Amino acid sequence: MKTLVEFIWKQREKFGHATGEFSHLLNDISIAAKIVNRDVNRAGLAGILGTHGSTNVQGESQKKLDVIANNEFIKALGNGKQCAAMISEENEDVIVFEDNIAANAKYIVAIDPLDGSSNIEVNVPIGTIFAIYRRKSMGNTITMEDVLQAGTELVCGGYIIYGSSTMLVYTTGDGVNGFTYDPTCGIFLLSHENMRIKDPGTIYSINEANYIYFPDGVKKYIKYCQEDDPSTNRPYTTRYIGSLISDFHRNLLRGGIYIYPGTKKNPAGKLRLLYECIPMAFIAEQAGAKASDGFRRILDIQPEHIHQRSPLFIGSRSMVEKAEAFMAELSPEFFDFYSESEKA
Ligand code: AHG
Ligand code: MN
Ligand code: MN
Repeated sequence: MKTLVEFIWKQREKFGHATGEFSHLLNDISIAAKIVNRDVNRAGLAGILGTHGSTNVQGESQKKLDVIANNEFIKALGNGKQCAAMISEENEDVIVFEDNIAANAKYIVAIDPLDGSSNIEVNVPIGTIFAIYRRKSMGNTITMEDVLQAGTELVCGGYIIYGSSTMLVYTTGDGVNGFTYDPTCGIFLLSHENMRIKDPGTIYSINEANYIYFPDGVKKYIKYCQEDDPSTNRPYTTRYIGSLISDFHRNLLRGGIYIYPGTKKNPAGKLRLLYECIPMAFIAEQAGAKASDGFRRILDIQPEHIHQRSPLFIGSRSMVEKAEAFMAELSPEFFDFYSESEKA
């Protein structure tokens, strides 16, 4: 079986000019992932469950593991020399690695160190989401142009899921590959080559408790999923874990759609554009799926703020297109609500 390191190296050979810096960066991420995996597995034993007593920039209470995972990625990327700056869900400002800038580091990383952290104490899969961009300011200090790049500029999107097994899934725009962690020898092995999503799928994932607040287009789509029509395998089945990564990963393997819509009160929804929606959208597209904010392709959105939020409709192409059609027909005003909230 091919290891992640062998795979990264082989990919590098495909681009004759590659210097190996990107391979090093990905390797640094995988090392931090192994440490976080260990901490997640030992959390109950080591007394690192529960809240940290602090809140992050989103005003959300931080779990101890949110803080631990964030520190591990900061350490790995800071020491690794390839990353010039990092954006994290847990840090209000851009984290600038001056030593790496002095060493001409070429990359910018946006990260959600621990996604689904409300699930930590109940033994439900959680994960890490990362996006890698090329630095634009070579030879200069970091600018907002470096950290506010649209998804179309992405070099790599990936996630690690700490589940019944731990997997690292990533794309560099040449298909999606998944590597399962073998804890007995501490290596990631290629287990899911060229992942493709089933279309249409039969799973829909949405926090239906918020139904009353959803746009009419989303309400109609939920009812569409529940209709009896054996010719299209409806009613579909509903699955919602509450960790974007876990819900997405299952839908990627089985076929389905995940929706976190905007509401009148929160027009941009809950998920963050730079380190949740964009990397997942890149993976989705590379697996033959689709990702939109209900109206626009996620990868085409130009970010205005580092912690900007976005609604997310992601999964099997035809399912996302159906939901988008209902949004266009029944909730076109949400496009304006959302655009206005972006400017604010
Ligand atoms: P995080 O733990 O990084 O803050 O992200 C949680 C996100 C996402 O992973 C998940 O799908 C969503 O929040 C769940 O939100 P609801 O509880 O509102 O359904
Ligand atoms: Mn998250
Ligand atoms: Mn998080």
